[in-house]
Amino acid sequence: MSAQTAPPTAMALLSRVPLFSSLDAGHLRTVVRSGKERDYPSGGEIVKVGDRGIGFYLVLTGGVEVRRESEVLARLGPGEFFGEMALFDDQPRTADVVAVRPTRCLVLSPWEFWSTVGKDPVVLRALLRETVRRLRGPHGSLSE
Ligand code: CMP
Repeated sequence: MSAQTAPPTAMALLSRVPLFSSLDAGHLRTVVRSGKERDYPSGGEIVKVGDRGIGFYLVLTGGVEVRRESEVLARLGPGEFFGEMALFDDQPRTADVVAVRPTRCLVLSPWEFWSTVGKDPVVLRALLRETVRRLRGPHGSLSE
């Protein structure tokens, strides 16, 4: 009989996410309980450019690609997030996000986001820093 390792729980995964390092265990538990875990097959479209997006996604396992037209803007793996832009400005999604292997995400609705992690100034600052980096693009300056 082969010993099987149990998959890490969302709580164990989240406790290793740098974005959430300022949150204590109680706060993290609230995040896990308020979000919903969603599974996507390889090739599954999670977010579509132009859609009115609701939801902030944290990759728990697997991996995704952020794409615009035929360009791959980023590859994101466990502990990384997407969907923050539409959440911040309530505008359509800026890119497609596609699972490139079987992927599990924790999804927070705007209300769940703003009533949990969105209340923490350290998390918000880390989110904002990453969002600005994404908007600056690969050369570190706004290109358009
Ligand atoms: P949103 O616009 O809500 O939906 C698409 C998401 O793709 C976007 O939020 C970001 O989370 C992510 N995204 C857009 N552009 C980039 C980029 N250049 N690098 C990494 N992620 C991006």
